[in-house]
Amino acid sequence: MKKLISSVLVLMLVLGLVACGGNSAGSEDSEASAEPSAITVGVVQTNANESDWRTANTKSFNEAFSAAGYETKMVFGEGDHAKQISQAQQLIQEEVDYLVVLGLQSAGWEDVAKSAQEAGIPFIMADRKLDLSEDLYTAMVCSDFEAEGKKAVDWLKAQAIDDCKIVVLGGDTGSSAQLGRSKAIEDGASANGWDIVFNQNMKGWDETLAKQAVADLIASGKEFNVVYAENDNMARGACDAMDAAGITYGKDGDVTVIAFDANKWALEKVLAGEFNLDVECNPLHGPRIVKLINSLEAGETVEKNAYVDEEMFDCDTITQAIVDARTY
Ligand code: AHR
Repeated sequence: MKKLISSVLVLMLVLGLVACGGNSAGSEDSEASAEPSAITVGVVQTNANESDWRTANTKSFNEAFSAAGYETKMVFGEGDHAKQISQAQQLIQEEVDYLVVLGLQSAGWEDVAKSAQEAGIPFIMADRKLDLSEDLYTAMVCSDFEAEGKKAVDWLKAQAIDDCKIVVLGGDTGSSAQLGRSKAIEDGASANGWDIVFNQNMKGWDETLAKQAVADLIASGKEFNVVYAENDNMARGACDAMDAAGITYGKDGDVTVIAFDANKWALEKVLAGEFNLDVECNPLHGPRIVKLINSLEAGETVEKNAYVDEEMFDCDTITQAIVDARTY
């Protein structure tokens, strides 16, 4: 009997050790198989409610980063370049894994880029290229804004409008989007003998400011026959002002309307003949940045300067199917 009890005790002891060992192995396995901590991406965004384009852009980051399992730390400069700089430095202090910057201003990012580099944090530009030498950033996924503007200029030239008198409604002064689009129309006017009768940048790409500027211009008696609005919201503001003054515009109107962004609602206006042309600026950067980060995580070489493919939409050729297929 004693032998039996001692055998049972020995067996229980052995089983206990195995179980513990299994646990420790399990714990080693669990340590080995522990989910890697989520990648944290710091996003220095411009303004939360800047434009319908910006809303789609922010949504794209949040949806794509969430689907990828990233932790997102998004901050908004709200029109204040210095605030963006300090926000970016703060994210570096918080040791985000990646820093994605959409600059209110193109200039003034060198110190942030150097801080990120010293901290070993990849610095990625999205949307708007910044004035940085290639050694100071990891990659760029941006729009070529001057090319967008040149598309509009070439289209306007093809319209062969007599005595072009152009109203330019610019975006935030000093942003690469404003600089590129404004350079294109200014160079185009010089090359084609067009007259820019008004050329002002609207703080925050603001639709109401654009509407008021055009209303004041009409009230002053200044004649114009082209509106070159550097985003859809400002083009809509200009059209509201022309409506109030009984000025016709669009496909069969006295004033030709050129817009940028190609939001779905704006393409409905192109289809209706209210906007003559809308040049796409694609905001869906979220998936592009996820692809970039995944490549970097895999140790792959990534393209340094990637420009987004963009098209333009003309009231004479757009279709309902094209509008229906738009995703923002
Ligand atoms: O940087 C892209 C520009 O910023 C868009 O054209 C405008 O709508 C946005 O606010």
